[in-house]
This record gives sequence, C-alpha cells and structure tokens, in this order.
Amino acid sequence: EHEQDHPHQVPAAFKIQLPTPSTPIHSATVSAPTNIACIKYWGKASSHYNTPINDSLSLTLDQADLRAVTTASCCKCFTEDKLWLNGKEVQMNASTLKRFRACVDGIRALASDKVDDITHQIVVTRSEWETMPVHIASYNNFPTAAGLASSAAGYAALVASLVALYDAREEYPGQFSAIARQGSGSACRSLYGGFVAWRAGGEREDWSDSIAEPVVDEMHWEEIRAVILVVSNKEKETSSTKGMETSVTTSRLLEYRAKHVVPQRMKEIEKAIQEKDFESFGKVTMMDSNQFHATCLDTYPPIFYMNDVSKSVVTMVHVYNEWAEEIRAAYTFDAGPNAVLYTLEKYQVELLALVLRYYPEVGEGYVNNSELRKEAMEFALEAG
Ligand code: ADP
Ligand code: DP6
Ligand code: CO
Repeated sequence: EHEQDHPHQVPAAFKIQLPTPSTPIHSATVSAPTNIACIKYWGKASSHYNTPINDSLSLTLDQADLRAVTTASCCKCFTEDKLWLNGKEVQMNASTLKRFRACVDGIRALASDKVDDITHQIVVTRSEWETMPVHIASYNNFPTAAGLASSAAGYAALVASLVALYDAREEYPGQFSAIARQGSGSACRSLYGGFVAWRAGGEREDWSDSIAEPVVDEMHWEEIRAVILVVSNKEKETSSTKGMETSVTTSRLLEYRAKHVVPQRMKEIEKAIQEKDFESFGKVTMMDSNQFHATCLDTYPPIFYMNDVSKSVVTMVHVYNEWAEEIRAAYTFDAGPNAVLYTLEKYQVELLALVLRYYPEVGEGYVNNSELRKEAMEFALEAG
C-alpha cells in the first residue's frame, strides 16, 4: 500500500547522503616515524595499562625512512567509529578495540574548548566532538607486523592525528605518550625524535608515570645512521603482544633480565649517547638484542623471530668490526627477522658496500637512496 503511494521510487536504489555544509567533515593528517629499540621492551607489568616490566630506549628514525601516514576525520554524518589500515577496514577484536578506544577517548578528553576549523570556517566546541564518530585511515610505507615496529609508527600517528584534529593539550608533560602507550607500548617513544627512553613507571597508581622522554636533544648525535635490511616482509606468526605475554609467564631469564640487567644497561647506554661513544653504544645495543632473543628461546614454547639470514647478518657485523678493530656497526632485531644496523655517517658507505655484496637482493630493494647505493657499489668494486 505504502509503495503504491510512491510509484516513482526505484526499489533497489537508495539515496546516498553526502555531507552538506551543515554536516562538515573535519579532518587532520599527520605522519609519524617508527623507532627501533636499543634496549628492548619485552614483558608487561600491567596488561590493563599496557606498561612494561623494564625501561627501554630507542632511536626514532628519520621521517624520510619508515613511517605511518594517518588521517583522522570526524563528522555528524558518520554512524560509528572506524579504522582502516593500508586501505582495508580493520575488523576490531576485543584487544584492538581496547587500544583504539584508549587512544580516541584519551585524546578527545583533552580537546580544546573551541577548535577553529579553517577549512569550514566554523568553530567546534569540545562537547560537539562527542556527537561525531571518528574515522581513522592509516598507511604504512613499510612492511606491517614484520618486526619493524609498525605498531609504534601506527599508534603514534593515530594519536598525533587526533591531537591535531581536536587541538588537544597535555595536562602534564608526557601525557600524549602515556595515551599512545595504551595503543602499543613502543608507540610512546615515537612521539619524540632522536634517542628516547620509556620510563617504566609504577610509582603512581594510574601508571601516569609510564611515559617516554627524549634523553638528549634531537640533534645531539647527528652522525648516527640506521640501515634497514628487510629480510622478510611477511607478517610474523607471533605478535609482539602475544609473544611477550608467553615470555612473562614462562621465562625465568626474562625476569632476571628486567631486574638485574636492564637497569645497568640503561645507565650505560645513556652515558654512551651523551658522550657519543659508539664503541659502548654499539656493544650494549648488540648485547641487548641478543638477550632479548635469548628470552624468546627461553620462552616455552620457544619463539623464533630471527632466521638464518638474520643470524648471518650478526656474523657479518662481527667480522666487519673485527676487521676494523673497532665497532663500526651494531645490529639489532625486534620481534621479527629484519635487521637494523646502526652505524656512523663516516662508515655508512663502507657498511652498505658490505651489505650489497653479501645481500644483493636486500640491498637492491631497501637501500633506497640511489646516490648512496651508487657510491657503495663503487666502493665495493674498488675494494674487490
Ligand atoms: P610490529 O613489529 O610491526 O610492531 P606488532 O605485532 O607489534 O608488529 O603489531 C602489528 C599490529 O599493529 C598490526 O597488526 C596492527 O594491528 C597494528 N598496526 C600496525 N600499523 C598500524 C597503523 N598504521 N595504524 C594502526 N595500527 C597499526
Ligand atoms: C621487540 O610495542 O609492539 O619491538 O605494547 O603489545 O603493542 P605492544 O607491543 P610492542 O612491542 C615491541 C617489542 C620490541 C621491542 C621494543 O620496541 O622496545
Ligand atoms: Co610492535
């Protein structure tokens, strides 16, 4: 009966509601780099607050290298909060949802009273944000979940995009990093450039002291370089979250490491960074990577993140350093087979030459600075 009243309607078609000036889409786009830890975070003290059993320290990579680009949008015309990763909508499970909510709700609660939306020439008040669902879309320019800290760049960019959208303000220094931490632990360190420490915290009941802070000025050790060797871009079988959960419950070595090894190493590495002492920096970095992977082997059932190629990179670096009679390169591996080599600017070409010679496919694919690659190739040919 109802249909007969409207004979002109096409049954299978429906009107698409496009946003009108009265329902504008507010948006902000940011980019955040990944960071690679020299002293590793592995093991949670509180899974609810996502806090670690030990301090950690990393170097945030240059924005030009590995990064996530994220757009956060808000509109009254959206029906629910959504997340896209590399072009695909993420079907959030309980764990992802909790991380996502902690970041969105955490930053939205810090929104400015009034935000000037220049594009739409309107002012949005804090309470209005609550009425608008948020859509977040992110792209990584490097392999996701392959042990190159995509979760770090990803959640740092997610938090930063919301900060930009809501024009959020911290109530205390490090509050944004405490929120990013709830997305992914390693993400709290990606909000700052250069060498960054994540202090485990735990003095305060709400873990608001579990935050990241730069240990030196971003420009302090400009000569430091990171070379990324992508051995495999496959997604790892054991996520970092799952892996460390099993390690905490089964590895006695992890317990020992957190209590008796890391505190001393944090002091050593911070001193090495202050003094630009690559010899000490490199040694501590390599030893800590090795101990982290030893705790993975000590986990029951054991977890193997490094593969045969990873192990041969370890050998190559030690042979190189022995030949040089000093530490010129240091390897570190996160939860995956991919190697990150730290070196100094003056050894960069020499190191790349070695890499290109022994791992031509790795070099071709991922030493993406063609100028540098050419120089390294010539160096390798000359040196035979
Ligand atoms: P990785 O070593 O790459 O950090 P993890 O196991 O720690 O691997 O985390 C991978 C997970 O992080 C992905 O499955 C995804 O849920 C999340 N993630 C990665 N990149 C992003 C991003 N750009 N935005 C939001 N979440 C992301
Ligand atoms: C080996 O930060 O990815 O890269 O907090 O569960 O998201 P969640 O874990 P995540 O773990 C990183 C582990 C590591 C070491 C490090 O980055 O410090
Ligand atoms: Co991660």
